[in-house]
Amino acid sequence: MADNELPVDQVATMDLNDDAVQRHQFSDRVLIKSILTRPDGGAGLAGRQVRVGGWVKTGREQGKGSFAFLEVNDGSCPANLQVIVDKDVADLGQLVPTGTCVYVEGMLKNPPEGTKQKIELRVQKVVDVGMVDPAKYPIPKTKLTLEFLRDRIPFRPRTNTIAAVARIRNALAYATHTFLQKQGFLYIHTPIITTSDCEGAGEMFQVTTLISDADKLEKELIKNPPPSEADIEAAKLVIKEKGEAVAKLKSDKAGREAISASVTELTKAKENLAKLEERSKLKPGIPQKDGKIDYTQDFFARQAFLTVSGQLQVETYACAVSNVYTFGPTFRAEHSHTSRHLAEFWMVEPEMAFSDLKDDMNCAEAYVKFMCDWLLDHCFDDMEFMAKNYDKSCINRLRMVASTPFERITYTEAVELLEVAVKEGKHFENKVEWGIDLASEHERYLTEVKFQKPVIVYNYPKGIKAFYMRLNDDLKTVAAMDVLVPKVGELIGGSQREERYDVIKSRIEDMGLPLEPYEWYLDLRRFGTVKHSGFGLGFERMILFATGIDNIRDVIPFPRYPGRADL
Ligand code: 4AD
Ligand code: MG
Repeated sequence: MADNELPVDQVATMDLNDDAVQRHQFSDRVLIKSILTRPDGGAGLAGRQVRVGGWVKTGREQGKGSFAFLEVNDGSCPANLQVIVDKDVADLGQLVPTGTCVYVEGMLKNPPEGTKQKIELRVQKVVDVGMVDPAKYPIPKTKLTLEFLRDRIPFRPRTNTIAAVARIRNALAYATHTFLQKQGFLYIHTPIITTSDCEGAGEMFQVTTLISDADKLEKELIKNPPPSEADIEAAKLVIKEKGEAVAKLKSDKAGREAISASVTELTKAKENLAKLEERSKLKPGIPQKDGKIDYTQDFFARQAFLTVSGQLQVETYACAVSNVYTFGPTFRAEHSHTSRHLAEFWMVEPEMAFSDLKDDMNCAEAYVKFMCDWLLDHCFDDMEFMAKNYDKSCINRLRMVASTPFERITYTEAVELLEVAVKEGKHFENKVEWGIDLASEHERYLTEVKFQKPVIVYNYPKGIKAFYMRLNDDLKTVAAMDVLVPKVGELIGGSQREERYDVIKSRIEDMGLPLEPYEWYLDLRRFGTVKHSGFGLGFERMILFATGIDNIRDVIPFPRYPGRADL
């Protein structure tokens, strides 16, 4: 051991007792964040012995190969730690390629005056190296586009952008739980597999084992063909012979043992025939009944799907324990190739008993504001990175949304405003008239141009909204609300729920939906019904809004969209 080297346990003890640079509790190292994000940028830690691990962002040999500079990042913060390794300590050629994993120990030192860094690590010992062949590394050092990275999903998190998005996403999830838990909401895990279509829009992915079962059977039947008529006849003949043998033994008054052995043989022959007959019924392909697929033979003995929303199920808890939320993945088989749609996305869905549409809007607004404040307080360095690289205005947008009351207008007022805009020369691709579903261009006009802040549009025509939304007294509109924000358009969709049994039953029927799958939902209105409301926030849309990134495929770790489901 060299003079300046400390045994590892001593390194650990020293750092553990020093709250300025604390060793990670479950790993033998300190997080780079705990060095670099101190108010002094780490300067005060000069002289400390630490161990760090991370991946080389850039590395270069200097001084004619006598030492190497490595910019090392461990994902705990956007900043890299500057690491200096002498050639006596390690083979520098192995350390410098971008993407190399280095696990090193050494002394923190103040760099020479005038350098950007406040602290750097002088390596005394290389504990471990995860090498990279630069010629084959999937993420070359050149400036990479987000599209290019979508073809390198396993390595995307090594980039500054995707790592920053991951930290922002994590912070928003934490903020979500914090906000809702503080207000006394219970986190309810609603099912991923469901048998009811929440939105009634028929955009569901089906969950079935019929296809894989049919595949298995087809292979089995090729390997082991079903019995022929002749096989069955032969098996029947065996039964006949065995039966006669039993009868003969009985009439001959044979011993009990002999008769019992013969009966056993007869039973076996009968079992064999039953098996053959069963196998002879096996037919390749999906089971059918009356010309339709026979779902009674499917895994759940009925048709099942991936959920489009946990709302209907979470309502059962809202109608029992009053304030609840679900936060999980949701799935939509829409063939939309837009920058705002995914086939698998995450939704936060609060549901509140004894709350009406106004309470719902108040909750949605408070929640969005809370998240904006949270990012400013907890993720400022990542937000600065986004402002520098993606959207200059993203930090100001968070500040504005956190501090400005949202505009609230009815759908009818929204259409009137759009009509005025058209009269004044604004061109929309989609026609504006009362009754249309607002298109993204309309939503963005309202929030980005007209009001330049979030807008809540409420009381939509009943014809364009889901069956569960409460019918207003005008009998034309429902107590629905959408929160529209700049950059994104629709961020939240919600409503007061229809709590009146007769009304919701006829809404389901009017929409041409079958009643049977919703009977349990109707029961909530039959027994102890309550005024209640809720909404769904598209989690990835919130990240788009916060970061200013353009495409939703870049703000979810593993994007799924038509034609694509990597990993
Ligand atoms: O407006 P949506 O369809 O509402 C519901 O599903 C309700 N059941 C929610 C509730 O009241 N509990 O979806 C809610 C939000 C949208 O506002 C949008 O932000 C997001 O989910 N969203 C999508 N995000 C990404 N990709 C898609 N394909 C999305 N579809 C909806
Ligand atoms: Mg919606």
